[in-house]
Parts: sequence; structure tokens; C-alpha cells
Amino acid sequence: MQTIDDLDVAGRRVLVRVDFNVPLEQAGDGTRRITDDGRIRAALPTLQALLVRGARLVLVAHLGRPKGVFVSELSLAPVAARLGELLDAPVRLASDVTGVTARESAERLGDGELLLLENVRFDARETSKDPAERGALAAELAALADCYVADGFGVLHREQASVTDVARLLPHAAGRLVGRETEVFGKVLADPDRPYAVVLGGSKVSDKLGVIENLLRSVDRLLVGGGMCFTFLAAQGHGVGSSLLEADQVETVKALLATAADRGVEVVLPVDVVVATAFAADAEHQVVPADAIPDGWMGLDIGPASAQLFASRLADARTVVWNGPMGVFELAPYAAGTRAVATAISRLDALTVVGGGDSAAAVRLLGVDESGFTHISTGGGATLELLEGRTLPGLAVLED
Ligand code: 3PG
Repeated sequence: MQTIDDLDVAGRRVLVRVDFNVPLEQAGDGTRRITDDGRIRAALPTLQALLVRGARLVLVAHLGRPKGVFVSELSLAPVAARLGELLDAPVRLASDVTGVTARESAERLGDGELLLLENVRFDARETSKDPAERGALAAELAALADCYVADGFGVLHREQASVTDVARLLPHAAGRLVGRETEVFGKVLADPDRPYAVVLGGSKVSDKLGVIENLLRSVDRLLVGGGMCFTFLAAQGHGVGSSLLEADQVETVKALLATAADRGVEVVLPVDVVVATAFAADAEHQVVPADAIPDGWMGLDIGPASAQLFASRLADARTVVWNGPMGVFELAPYAAGTRAVATAISRLDALTVVGGGDSAAAVRLLGVDESGFTHISTGGGATLELLEGRTLPGLAVLED
């Protein structure tokens, strides 16, 4: 796989696929605010390295799932503004993807300047299942530049025009972010130092079955919190009150627990839980043993004894991957479990990796020291697919 150091970029136009799919919230005055700019910041090393060498950058990104039509709420305008602040340079946003504005703006770029194309998913061909349609958009994108850099790690699991098809049409290389992500996951997947522990959370076990099945081949310990732990507790025969439960997955989880036992993988589940009468910050709440959740109460976080137990089962680990919050960390009364586990991981003398999406957002939102982790991934689905042992199409195409 080539890196950006292998490309001749001075004075040339470089199409850079980034993942700026960041969470936004609508303010009272109708403006949209980025609530976590981690993915934009993660692209800076690649962008700065290319700009300093006199490259003319044409950035391609998506935001949300607009399904091939223009949706003003999903314009990349707030992203262009934030990127400009971070780079301390104006970032021009083309009003189209490969239309007249995009083409003329790309033509006019000077050395060391950059342009952001409007949300590539406003063009239905980007996500088309028809390779010919994707190919047509890829050809238009390729015509904007001399070479292609893949730095949108979070979207590498998608077979989409700006991810896979365009890479086949231009000289290509991996950006610094993709390089770093693949290096870290390469080590974790192929040769983890042991003990190797994975902490999984998040709401649905069904989203992570493939990950768990694959991890049971390699990990020494699997710690489970978050909404998904209730399906595990149910599989052990405990009542879970009105907690999130995927009843149709209970048998599957029983089988996973049996596989873990056969393979000598230690599965660590919460021993206490913060339960509430409703999914709300101001609901009545209390800590109860995990095997005694009262009827009508729902578990919204792991309890303090569980946080302590998890920290103790991580203390001697040499490799830790964490994916998924331990509770509803966005609501203050249910944030303590996620904060405690994140803090414990950040203080380990080990290779520590935070999966992207909610866990990365939790680290930043809860003020946990980001520098305490070896790596905070920018991938959500992409990270999960790597942990499932799958090949990412956007990565495979860079090998050719
Ligand atoms: C993500 O947020 O995980 C990536 O940007 C991919 O987005 P998608 O799931 O909408 O393809």
C-alpha cells in the first residue's frame, strides 16, 4: 500500500476522500453545531502534510444519508467552517459535487489551497448498487484531480463511488489516518500482546454478534456492559425488568457463552446496575445487584461495583480494545460507568484502542484524557467490520 510520501503532489490536484460524517445538533436559532469534531481533527495530519508540499486539494466527504437528493440540513457548510478554523485558512465549499462549480473551483485552485466538494451523497450514483452508475460518478470525480488519497477510514467498509471506484481510476495512496488506523488494528488483530481484553457496550447485541464470534477466537477476556449486557444477563437466567432485551438473541448469546467457556475466554458481566423508572435524567434511579433488577425498572448504566470489577479485570491487560458505552452516558445520572471504565483504560500501561462512534464521543464528552489512549479510532461500522475479521473494500482497492 502506497502512502502519501510516495505520491508526487507538488502543484498537482489531489482528490482526498475524508470522513467528515460528524454529529450535528440544531441550535435554537436554526444553525447547526458540530457536537464532536474528532473526525475533522483526525484528517488534519494528512491535509497539512499535502498542503505544505504544494498540493491542490479537492476534498470529498459525506454527511448523513441524504439518499441522492439535496438536503440543506446535510450540507457540509458547518464542516467547511470548522475545517477552516482548524487549518486557520479559508475553506471554500463547492455548491455541487462534480458540477460546474466544483469543476471551475478545482481548476482555479492554487498550490497549497483546498476545496471541499458538497456532500457526495447528494449524488445518487455515490451509493448506487449498479457499478456502472458508480463508475460514471467516479470518472467525474477522477477528472477533478491527478491522484487520489484515501483518508476516510470510517467509510472504508462501503463499496461506494468515492471510496472504491475512483481509487481504481487514479494513482492512489493511503493518507496518514488510514495508515495509523490500519497499523494499530493490524497489530491488535494479528499479534496482540497478552492478556488481550475487549470491552464491549452499546445498545444491541445483534449488531455485534459477528464481532463477538470473531473475538472469541483471539481474546483472553471479554467484558460486556451497555444495553447489550441485559441480553447476556437474561441468557444466564436473570430477570432484567424493563431493560433493553433482545429476546430473540438469548439462545444465540447462550451459545456464545458456551463457546467462550470451551475456549477458556473469561466473560465478565456487570454485578450491579443503575436502574431507573424511565429513560430520563430526572427519573427515579438506584443501584441494584445485576441479578435482582426489579420489575418495571430499566438498567441504564453499570453500577460502581461493576466499574471496579471491570477495572480490576483490565489492570494487567497488555492490549485493550473498547467499543461501545457502558450506559446512557449522554444523561448525567448514567454516565459514571462509562467514565470509570474509560478512565481505567486510559491509565493502563498497555496498547489501548477506543473504537470510534459513541465510545470516541464519550471520551471527549466526559472529559477523559484523550492522550491516555494509544489510539482513538474514527471508524464506527468500519472498526466493527475489522474486528469481525472482514476485509474492507476501500482498503483492498489501495493494495492494487
Ligand atoms: C460512519 O459514520 O460510520 C461512516 O461515516 C459511514 O457512514 P454510513 O454508515 O452512513 O455509510
